[in-house]
Amino acid sequence: MNPKRFLNRLVTLSLIASTVFLYNCNKDDDNPEEMQEGETPTFTADIQGIMAGNCTGCHASTPTNGAPMSLVTYNQVVDAVNNRNLVSRINSTTAPMPQTGRMNATLRQTIEDWVNAGMPEN
Ligand code: HEC
Repeated sequence: MNPKRFLNRLVTLSLIASTVFLYNCNKDDDNPEEMQEGETPTFTADIQGIMAGNCTGCHASTPTNGAPMSLVTYNQVVDAVNNRNLVSRINSTTAPMPQTGRMNATLRQTIEDWVNAGMPEN
C-alpha cells in the first residue's frame, strides 16, 4: 500500500472511531432519563414496604409510643407528606424519623423520588 493510501485509510478509520465514540457518549447521556421513567417508585411497590419496615412500629393503624398519626394507608402517607413535613423529618439530623436515627440514603432517596413524581399510588 503506498503511503498516501495508508494515510487516507488512517483518516477514514479515525473518523469512524470518533463517530462511534461520540454516538456512545450521546447514548449514555440519554440513558438516565429512560431508566428513571421505568423506575418511578410507587406507594404499593416501594413506599408501603419502607413504612412497614421503619415507621408503623409507632405510626400503626392505632398509633403507639406517642406517634401522632398512622402511616399505613396511601392517604395517610400522602397527608403526612403534604401537612406534616414527612420528607424533612426523614432527613432531619436533629429530630429524625425514625427517632433512633435516619434510614439509609437509598431509602430516603426513594421516598423523595416518589414525592417528586407526584406520589403515584400504583
Ligand atoms: C419509635 C416510634 C416511631 C417511629 C419508628 C417513627 N416515628 Fe414518626 N413520630 C413518632 C413520635 C413520638 C412523633 C411525635 C413527636 C415528634 O414529632 O418528634 C412522631 C412524629 C412524626 C412526624 C411529624 C408529625 C407532625 O404532625 O408533626 C412525621 C412526619 C413522622 N413522625 C414520620 C415518620 C416516618 C416517615 C417514620 C418512618 C421512616 C417514622 N415517623 C418512624 C414516633 C415514631
